[in-house]
Amino acid sequence: MEVEAFVRDLDARNQELLRRLAPESTLKPEVEGDLTVVNLLKVALKNEIEATEIAARWLVGSAELDVKLALARQVGDESKHYRLVAERLSELGFDARSFDPLAKGYGPLFHYLDGLHTTVERVAAGQFTREAIAIVKNRQFIEFCEVAGDEATARLYRETIEPDERHHHELGRRLLLRYATTPEAQNSARQAASRTLELAEELQAVALRTGGIHHAPGC
Ligand SMILES: [Fe+2]
Ligand SMILES: [Fe+2]
Repeated sequence: MEVEAFVRDLDARNQELLRRLAPESTLKPEVEGDLTVVNLLKVALKNEIEATEIAARWLVGSAELDVKLALARQVGDESKHYRLVAERLSELGFDARSFDPLAKGYGPLFHYLDGLHTTVERVAAGQFTREAIAIVKNRQFIEFCEVAGDEATARLYRETIEPDERHHHELGRRLLLRYATTPEAQNSARQAASRTLELAEELQAVALRTGGIHHAPGC
């Protein structure tokens, strides 16, 4: 497939599956139990540190200069998000310095991404798809914050974090356009993207079952 058509097609498939992650009901946030902005921001810390580390690992292992630089920018952004979320948590009365989001280990999506070895798979999964998921989840989280009356957290996501995640998704698009040029590469990109979405869906189902969480911010 011609590469522009391939990326358009991959985007369309992703968006179709993402609609499953964004059913109407999850777009109508409601606060119940201990589903609080603070608890969701703790989930965000875990996502941000995992996203930082995966981009750092890939940066070291990538040969292409433009891929290295894209990943370097992402390392900087995701670690900045970690710091901003930690600062917001401390304004909300939670001391993030005494909290280790990796105390229970890395999550399944991290392990999956860490096992990808080609640039095309990494870019398709980690940037193009994972960041598309983040855009949906952050939109839900912003609504959640607004309903909870936390305008400062909503603003942090709307004005700073969300535009960065959108940029990471666009980096993924640019790199796919450059590198997903053979049938083999397109095939592995497609597989990596759909596995990432499956994992996100499984993770969301688990989070819903165990914690009633469906607005956790993404990366
Ligand atoms: Fe990101
Ligand atoms: Fe992030």
